[in-house]
Amino acid sequence: MSPFKNLIAATAILLMLSARTSGDSTSPPPHQARIAELLARMSLQEKIGQLNMRGGGQPMDVNPGMRDQNLNELLGEIRSGAVGSLLGANGADYINKLQRCAVEESPHKIPLLVGNDVIHGFRTIFPIPLGEAATFQPELIERAATVAAREARAAGTNWTFAPMIDVCRDARWGRIAETAGEDHYLGALMAAARVRGFQGDRVDAPDRVLACGKHYVAYGAPEGGRDYNTVDVSMQTLHEVHLATFHTAVRAGVASMMTSFNEINGVPASGNEYVMRTVLRGDWAFGGFVVSDYNAIPEMILHGYAADRADAAAKALRAGVDIDMCGFAYRDELAGLVASGRVSEKLIDESVNRVLRAKASLGLFESPYSDSSLEKRTLLAAEHRALARDIARRSMVLLKNNKELLPLPKSIKRLALIGPLIDSRRDPLGTWACYGEDQNVVTVRAGLAAALPQTEILTARGCDVRGESPFGVDEAVVAANAAEAVVLVLGESEDMSGEGHSRASIELPAPQLALAKSLFDTGKPCVVVLLTGRPLAIPTLAESAGAILCAWHPGTECGHAIADVLLGDFNPAGRLPATFPRATGQIPIHYNHKNTGRPPTADRYTSKYIDVAWTPQYSFGFGLSYTTFAYSDLRVEPATVDADGSIRISVNVANTGRRDGEEVVQVYFRDPIASRTRPVRQLCAFERVAIAVGQSKCVEFSISADLFAFYNWDMKRVVEPGEIELYVGGNPADGLKTSVQVIDAIAR
Ligand code: GLC
Repeated sequence: MSPFKNLIAATAILLMLSARTSGDSTSPPPHQARIAELLARMSLQEKIGQLNMRGGGQPMDVNPGMRDQNLNELLGEIRSGAVGSLLGANGADYINKLQRCAVEESPHKIPLLVGNDVIHGFRTIFPIPLGEAATFQPELIERAATVAAREARAAGTNWTFAPMIDVCRDARWGRIAETAGEDHYLGALMAAARVRGFQGDRVDAPDRVLACGKHYVAYGAPEGGRDYNTVDVSMQTLHEVHLATFHTAVRAGVASMMTSFNEINGVPASGNEYVMRTVLRGDWAFGGFVVSDYNAIPEMILHGYAADRADAAAKALRAGVDIDMCGFAYRDELAGLVASGRVSEKLIDESVNRVLRAKASLGLFESPYSDSSLEKRTLLAAEHRALARDIARRSMVLLKNNKELLPLPKSIKRLALIGPLIDSRRDPLGTWACYGEDQNVVTVRAGLAAALPQTEILTARGCDVRGESPFGVDEAVVAANAAEAVVLVLGESEDMSGEGHSRASIELPAPQLALAKSLFDTGKPCVVVLLTGRPLAIPTLAESAGAILCAWHPGTECGHAIADVLLGDFNPAGRLPATFPRATGQIPIHYNHKNTGRPPTADRYTSKYIDVAWTPQYSFGFGLSYTTFAYSDLRVEPATVDADGSIRISVNVANTGRRDGEEVVQVYFRDPIASRTRPVRQLCAFERVAIAVGQSKCVEFSISADLFAFYNWDMKRVVEPGEIELYVGGNPADGLKTSVQVIDAIAR
């Protein structure tokens, strides 16, 4: 990212903590006159219909994610104006049928919003978002979102329930796979990039869709890492970590937000007036619309926050939820609530206004239909697959490479390819790959075979991903002994992460560990490739594998991308967006932790464990390369900076190895003394730079002092005077150090 773009990004970030940003409320939004006229003609029931979302009516074989539903029932509801948006409909021809019913037969001819989970690709599937984040290349992920939007809109989808913007410091949570990891600065840049990619400059273009920031808010911090569980965070952490990323998405122009399942300090998100009215619509002047997560409105009864469905509907509407996703509380209760005076029709008008504005912004009133011939030409286009392959290999993180075992020589005569995931098609797609198709996936075996036409590849499954007892270990050992080297593919099936798939233990399943140990005992050079939706606790692999490549769930181009990296056609440069613990028991463990009054030392009475080293197995920001880099000549100017000023950092990075490569240059800061304790490191800038063998590059960053802001005890957002330490290197622990003085304070 160029320094100037970096300043833009940094500015966007600094505003993420800002108290209030002005929304232009003078000129009416576009299409307002038409919407006002339409609204005036609508009955209360018809208005409520626009706030009701239901399933897309296709049978299970077309939409595995959707419960089977009766198409005629759906068409009847559309025709009567009882539904305004759909979840899970797929395909231009099918959706055109539904749109035609809405546009030609419903009372006010209002087209439908058609929403889908286009999280990391539509038909061309990119790495899971956690893998995309590992590229540390937001501009690349913007391109992936652009492709996803192009494919989705061609297939009739006009609204995606993405980007997922939650910050997660707990790898037990299954949905960490969908996040950008543990850091809000990286998460904010990835969120903004995806919003730009999905929406472009105009969402009425035929290849763009509305984006949706989710899950608002703090869903990534459930107690125990257990999905849907209680979230209780300080107001400071709520603002500094969890709200921060969403604010950047709002500033990037995200069209909608989705409220999360969780409560926030006792108030469920879908009924939380503070996060929706005070922060989102007040401080941030968000002009888009808000949808609840699936059935989240009635779930406020189970939360113990609403007495019944009517109470839940009233609380959600008052808090600011515009569309009820498949909870049917709005459909069933709002008319009665208006009649009884418990909610004003004005609130409903405001919500309907926002929903109609969104439909108008998509151009749906003028052009509601998709072109199925375009759909056929667009899905899985060659250039889409090429981008998916490039992003997949750029996402991969080299965690270990003893004695430069990797890259493997293409002259290898016999290679053993072992593990329960070597032929899998669905698992490399990862979670939320709704419209990805298994038959398009390049398996690990197929990718290596294509890249090594002269090599005899001996294969063995070795064990099941999660089976109870290892079977096939013996055949795996035979294959290993007959080969020059082993590629062992381990990790998670796609259904071991994602929604409702949290794990109490993130260690490798026992059969996989047994297989690995048997293969290590052969003494053959062994490369472990991890296909996973989350960080894993892999102390045995870290100890005994010759090399370890974390490939995440890399998407449609899995096998080609893995072969590119293992055989040196691409020098890996991914960096971890989330910490790999040594053991589940260390969780929560993240790089931006506090120092405490007894930071860990050899002394007994300091903050550590007696059974596991206190450090992570692999830190956030860590990753190796097939070459090496050296940092020198770190400079910062000016030496002192106003709290509302900015500094320029420059550093020289030399490629000191034998291969061209890319380095993710990272800038961290620490505020060592403040009115509230601050983390030992915080990421504030990064750039992935390509440096040829023997060359070096001067990498420059422009960083706003406002990035040093935090919320003090009184919840004032402050930048305090004093020294700020700065660290520049290839990960938080290594690198060069300097500092800058902030010379005055700002409190907002
Ligand atoms: C799910 C998820 C949400 C998704 C929605 C629609 O429960 O929490 O991320 O967008 O329902 O599928």
